[in-house]
Amino acid sequence: MARQATSGRPVLAKQFSQERLRVRPSSREEAVVAAAEEHFEKTLVRIRGELVGSVAALSHPGGGDEALNYGEVFLRDNVPVMLYLLLKGRYQIVRNFLDISLELQSSTYQTRGVFPTSFVEDGDELLADYGQRSIGRITSVDASLWWPVLAWLYVKRSKDYEFGASQKVQRGIQLLLDLVLHPTFEGTPVLFVPDCSFMIDRPMDVWGAPLEVEALLFGCLGCCCQLMELAQKSHNSRLLEQRLVLTKQWKYDLRRYLLKHYWVTSKTMQVLRRRPTEQYGEQQSLNEFNVQPQVIPPWLQDWLEDRGGYLIGNMRTGRPDFRFYSLGNCLGCLFGLITAPQQRALFRLVLHNRDELMAQMPMRICHPPLEGDKWSEKTGSDPKNWPWSYHNGGHWPSLLWYLGGAVLLHQRLYPTADVLLMGQMQAMLEECYWMQLNQLPRQQWAEYFDGPTGTWVGQQARTYQTWTIVGFLLLHHILRVKTDDVDMLDINAP
Ligand code: GLC
Repeated sequence: MARQATSGRPVLAKQFSQERLRVRPSSREEAVVAAAEEHFEKTLVRIRGELVGSVAALSHPGGGDEALNYGEVFLRDNVPVMLYLLLKGRYQIVRNFLDISLELQSSTYQTRGVFPTSFVEDGDELLADYGQRSIGRITSVDASLWWPVLAWLYVKRSKDYEFGASQKVQRGIQLLLDLVLHPTFEGTPVLFVPDCSFMIDRPMDVWGAPLEVEALLFGCLGCCCQLMELAQKSHNSRLLEQRLVLTKQWKYDLRRYLLKHYWVTSKTMQVLRRRPTEQYGEQQSLNEFNVQPQVIPPWLQDWLEDRGGYLIGNMRTGRPDFRFYSLGNCLGCLFGLITAPQQRALFRLVLHNRDELMAQMPMRICHPPLEGDKWSEKTGSDPKNWPWSYHNGGHWPSLLWYLGGAVLLHQRLYPTADVLLMGQMQAMLEECYWMQLNQLPRQQWAEYFDGPTGTWVGQQARTYQTWTIVGFLLLHHILRVKTDDVDMLDINAP
């Protein structure tokens, strides 16, 4: 484990900056891409004779445990798969995936409207996991929120508007929205979830309103509106109109809430530190969550530098989670949750903290890791989530394309904004791309990497992990083959 410098930066990672220039383009690019495409084809599976999506990983070394589910089709792991298939014009597989997931949307009393975490064909039977087979038996919330996003991106790209406006899709959306837009004991627009309910599916103290879920909810509501508008065009209905108004309002309130409580910069921190505490009553409060200045971690000062900004991981009364979560922040850009200047502040922060976030295997899932007593208390002494490993500060190559997508989409939407910064981001992305290209084939396209510099293949990592392979192919496509195609990721465009 790395010693922490006083700034909170790992000493080992610091040394890496001098070595950074060693990353070079490789003449093996074509061969690596061709091999990755071959592996990817092998991940695609058939259900009822039709290709429907990818298994999570091709091989499971040390496995032999039948209960391990890497041979299943996970909804979240199939997000990059579906996007890659859309880019390649293989629309039918995406349509099959959407159809099967919709067919499996839960109709039982307690989970009505929930989409499965994963599914698999067993003989003639289609088995779905709604959480009943996972660690902690927790239902994934992200799978359900991703479905409308994928459905909208499919409709937009393939122009299959009929599917988007169809009764089954519209019904699926309404069932899902029922899970969000209903009265509760909470007066806020966020979705409350238990620990382990998204990509981070082992205890990591990410219960409540974790950024990744809330950013996805924002994207999901936007895509539900787009799909409802499609139906509204073909058959105007008053009920649908009411739902649209309510969903748009919810999305608006959610955005305001997240920008107010999750977005931090050096400037906002200085104001926040001087806020009054113990504020009751109904008047406009400066500190609704009663956050004491003492809970602000010391590493935050250097992390933010002067002009950086990011969305914090969670907000809970008195206890904001200041950890940086890569996926939630990238989704915040891709979905347009944060403004264009805020996106650039985030890019500045990524550049400034590049040694931590990218290190030798881009990109770290969350920073900093929980260590010592905090690790044992919050993870239940989970050895898989040992500091700098797996979800607890590990490096996941599958996350890099999300950052790539965010940066390249930003450049497409705001081509003249801060060209110097965006040039630096582009250069960093390219280096990260070459790092993956040089390492991943040797490391058998591992699931995740461990240690403060992300050099070691994760202790329990699967190999030939689908989203590692397809994430690389997606980045290769938008960075090296056809940058215009990044427009496809813009959920806000018609
Ligand atoms: C692990 C990951 C989860 C992923 C699954 C399949 O459980 O934590 O995010 O979906 O593996 O790859």
